[in-house]
Amino acid sequence: MITNNVSLKSLHSFAIDVSARRLYVVDTEAELFAIWRHASTNSSPRIVLGGGSNVLFLENYSGTVLLNRIAGMTIEEDTDYWYLHVGAGEVWHDLVNACLEKNMPGLENLALIPGYVGSAPIQDIGAYGVEFQQFCEYVDVLQMETGTKHRMSVAECQFGYRDSIFKHNLREHYVIVAVGFRLIKAWSPILHYGDLVHLDAQQATPRQIYDIVCAMRRAKFPDPTHQGNAGSFFKNPIIDASAAEKLLNHYPDAPYYPQPGGEVKLAAGWLIDRCGLKGYRIGGAAVHDKQALVLVNFDQATGEDIAALARYVRMQVAERFAVWLEPEVRFISSYGEVDAVRVIA
Ligand code: FAD
Ligand code: EPU
Repeated sequence: MITNNVSLKSLHSFAIDVSARRLYVVDTEAELFAIWRHASTNSSPRIVLGGGSNVLFLENYSGTVLLNRIAGMTIEEDTDYWYLHVGAGEVWHDLVNACLEKNMPGLENLALIPGYVGSAPIQDIGAYGVEFQQFCEYVDVLQMETGTKHRMSVAECQFGYRDSIFKHNLREHYVIVAVGFRLIKAWSPILHYGDLVHLDAQQATPRQIYDIVCAMRRAKFPDPTHQGNAGSFFKNPIIDASAAEKLLNHYPDAPYYPQPGGEVKLAAGWLIDRCGLKGYRIGGAAVHDKQALVLVNFDQATGEDIAALARYVRMQVAERFAVWLEPEVRFISSYGEVDAVRVIA
């Protein structure tokens, strides 16, 4: 399917009123490759989107948007594991539901994360004590200059906190077309985050975890269908041990998470909250009043409103705590992705 000069408002979770020159919904690898090639010969910018739940459009997009809807799931098993091969165009939460319905637990802590399966490896999605990489067996990518397919191992993907090779070296020329999962049959619950700590590890069921995770998320995050947002706008900053010691001496109540190697991860939401910024507004953009790490499209915000608010928040946090926040959200200009830190510096 092709559409010209189409509104992107309903196709990204910030729901900013921007348009794209062309939009294609692609269902097969062949279609994806052909459309990408066609746009290249016209020197038109191209971007692949899943659910648009981790992007900020700063302005109208002058090129071609390809919505990846390559579907399908196959399941194999041996005595110890289930092995799933899932098309990039499957909805992430539907996959979590399907696994629970088939009594294949593991993904329940990652319930209700918006977006598509093909986007999960890009920032190694994570929530409530679990990260995507723990279940990943491989990622299938299409090299868009040649149309050849590569299967990447977990080591090759270089997963890290909200990071992977797909945000760096492979960003421009590779598209994820499928993901391989490995779910262990000897399931054990992961219960160290939030309200999950109240469950008894001997008794807890995957369904209970799923229900609690969904309840926590519904209580905390604004529903993008009612108020545009992209989840956490910034990453939680990771600082070195001596800077952390200084900060924690001044603010002993600051939440922190020691990292391997001695670094310390701070809670960006707490830092922003402590600056008194909950509810703060610039134009149509606002800091969410329950979760300060979420910036919302409060009232017909433009991409520039959200970027201006992010700039202000980042500066306030730096002035007070000497910590510079980095956006988790990817910034898209008229011609393609731009460096988000530079835009709000
Ligand atoms: P999109 O926004 O469509 O794309 C994201 C980036 O990946 C873009 O740069 C795009 O060009 C690129 N891309 C998309 N598909 C492909 C592909 N097939 N191949 C190559 N590149 C591609 N994230 C978490 O990790 N944990 C959370 O708990 C969480 N909670 C959220 C809560 C809310 C309310 C919202 C709105 C977002 C939340 N997020 C969270 C962020 C978001 O859900 C994830 O980043 C998700 O994986 C994005 O999926 P998407 O399909 O919407 O990606
Ligand atoms: N906090 C405040 N005020 C706020 C927000 C948070 O004081 O306004 C405090 C909380 O009380 C808590 C700490 O900050 O002590 C951390 O907050 P929370 O547990 O809500 O998690 P988070 O660090 O804000 C991260 C992820 C989320 C993920 C949750 C649950 C990042 C950038 N964000 O949020 O992921 O769902 O943990 O695991 O790592 C996303 O990436 O888009 C996302 C939503």
